[in-house]
Amino acid sequence: MDRLLQHVEDRFGIRASARKLPSERDQNFLLSDDSGQRFVLKVANASESRVILEAQNAVMDYLSERVPFCQRVIGEIVQFDGHYVRLVTYLPGVPLAEINPHTPGLLHDLGQKLGQLSRALTDFDHPAVHRDFHWDLANGNRIVNEYAPLIEKAELRELVVKCRFEPETELRRSVIHGDANDYNVLVDPEMMTVSGLIDFGDMVYSYTVGDLAIALAYVALDKDRPRDAAREVISGYTSEFGLLHEEREALWPLVRLRLAMSICMAAYQQQQQPENEYLAISQKAIEKTLPRIYTDEYTIGDLMATRQRLLGRNLSVAYEKPLHIVRGSMQYLYDDEGRRYLDAYNNVAHVGHCHPKVVAAGQRQMERLNTNTRYLSELILEYAEKLTATLPESLSVCFFVNSGSEANELAIRLARAHTKARDMIVLEHAYHGNTTTLIDLSPYKHHGRGGEGAPAWVHTARLPVSVADAQHVIDMVQKLDAPLCGFIAESMPSVAGQIVLPDGYLNQVYDTVHDAGGVCIADEVQTGFGRIGTHFYAFEKYGVVPDIVVLGKPIGNGHPLGAVITTRRIAESFDNGMEFFSTFGGNNVSCAIGLKVLEVVYEENLQAHALKVGEHLLAGLHELDQRREVIREIRGSGFFLGVELVEEASLVVNQMRQRGILMGTEGPRHNVIKIRPPMPFTDSDADQLVQTLDEVLSRG
Ligand SMILES: Cc1ncc(COP(=O)(O)O)c(C=O)c1O
Repeated sequence: MDRLLQHVEDRFGIRASARKLPSERDQNFLLSDDSGQRFVLKVANASESRVILEAQNAVMDYLSERVPFCQRVIGEIVQFDGHYVRLVTYLPGVPLAEINPHTPGLLHDLGQKLGQLSRALTDFDHPAVHRDFHWDLANGNRIVNEYAPLIEKAELRELVVKCRFEPETELRRSVIHGDANDYNVLVDPEMMTVSGLIDFGDMVYSYTVGDLAIALAYVALDKDRPRDAAREVISGYTSEFGLLHEEREALWPLVRLRLAMSICMAAYQQQQQPENEYLAISQKAIEKTLPRIYTDEYTIGDLMATRQRLLGRNLSVAYEKPLHIVRGSMQYLYDDEGRRYLDAYNNVAHVGHCHPKVVAAGQRQMERLNTNTRYLSELILEYAEKLTATLPESLSVCFFVNSGSEANELAIRLARAHTKARDMIVLEHAYHGNTTTLIDLSPYKHHGRGGEGAPAWVHTARLPVSVADAQHVIDMVQKLDAPLCGFIAESMPSVAGQIVLPDGYLNQVYDTVHDAGGVCIADEVQTGFGRIGTHFYAFEKYGVVPDIVVLGKPIGNGHPLGAVITTRRIAESFDNGMEFFSTFGGNNVSCAIGLKVLEVVYEENLQAHALKVGEHLLAGLHELDQRREVIREIRGSGFFLGVELVEEASLVVNQMRQRGILMGTEGPRHNVIKIRPPMPFTDSDADQLVQTLDEVLSRG
């Protein structure tokens, strides 16, 4: 030691006493000179190459003019007993690991300083840091593959292997510090701000976002709510240095990968040097933290909390154990951990989630033009032509809007303009949309929780169980003391519980309404576009022709698109001098998408497919009905099916979700399982559904 201190005095002109500091690779000594000034003497590992140390000195020199929280280099690299020796300034502070608690302000400050570092380093380079380095996050998968087998605990080993991660898009790269762990970050405990970032020994040319990810990995340790802590750091970071979309996406997987690498490296190093205590320092906390941040309960809990804070709370979440869906493909959805779910009820993705032809059509048009309907365009005309061709001849004029609600709202305006009347008849438990008028018109809402009942212009007809119930509507019309505007119904009421109307019922009701001067509106938002298999629209099943047809959900396959199609006469009554215009309704992109959805429905023969697979599914369900007493009734057609249970269906639906099949409940008693899958649903999907439902029902 004395020889080393003499060497320091000779080479750096500093006479000092020394104390050993803990370190992983180098030997570090804290030096104090007579005046109380302190330095760190870094004696490099004998195997360390000079060029790497030169790079470290270069970055510290570079940063000394750009950020105030890194050490400065004193003098040149010297040699002592075959080791390279460097002297740098001492930064006061307590390791972040020893500060408790990590206040939001401290975490934000850490983020800001890391952001300043990333910004400063964008223009720094050194040939030595373009290296194949085992701690490089970009090598993470290799490290896991090589060293995970050395992890003794089987559960931990399996988890570590699951943390392998390949970014979907190539990530931005630059020189990074590479090891902003909680012992390399120093804190001023009085100010509770970051006073230093030390040890550039792991510096490497790698993912720019790596420094943030690594810091987050250590910030996450021992935290009850690691994501909240991370959010503070990220917000500080991004206030200084912007993150790209793909970097945000990759951030959390990289955090996990870093912890997994740490466990792997520790397993390897412990095997090599069983007596080295430093190796074990952060392993306990890492082994505890990784499973916690890996599980979806954690992520979900965090998303739920943020959702509660930021979104209106009367927006419900499907399933007891909420899903975090990040990708969809045809009849499948995938969660954030890559688990696949068979989607048996999301009818909006009609031709399949993210159907490639629909995506391409939307993308192409988005690149070319997206503007409003006040300019001439072939696209909207082609779409209107093809759409009206799906309907009876009398329904020949289209209006395009952005949702089912807007379409129903417009349908009511058309009906009022045509009849000069206001009173409407609706079916019990019906839902037609979320606007003020439609809540008034929807018994499901105004008779439900928080509802204020029906206004005087809304008359609710009972949900028919036989054709004789048409008499209820006939009586109602006769007793009206105001003129009738019209009747609105889903031709197969969905929200009411996947109901098939009795044959002959709609015919009598439509005749009665027409005789009273009213118009008939068919809400085909759920049932249209071939879903019921036997017909393109549900009203066709009964041989009636509505005056106004309302379309929504499936026609845009998830793109917000609604349409109202009516007769020339009604459209003319509506054309009373007041312009109708919707900024987004019928824009070029919406039309391109709507047109492609319609084409795909025909090209892929989806109506016939729904009929065939729907029959196969119905047969399976009926067979199940023979054996499971809990089933009361099975009804519907094609891919519009309901399984009514003798009790609430939510337990069953939640258990199906646990087994990877997504279904929903409907009906006033929530005892109807709705089955309305994307149309590509196959026979084998149907078999899987029936078999899984059998398992769930057998558990009682
Ligand atoms: C039958 C029916 N009509 C209208 C709507 C309203 O459509 P949107 O949510 O697109 O406004 C819905 C939505 O669930 C519906 O089921």
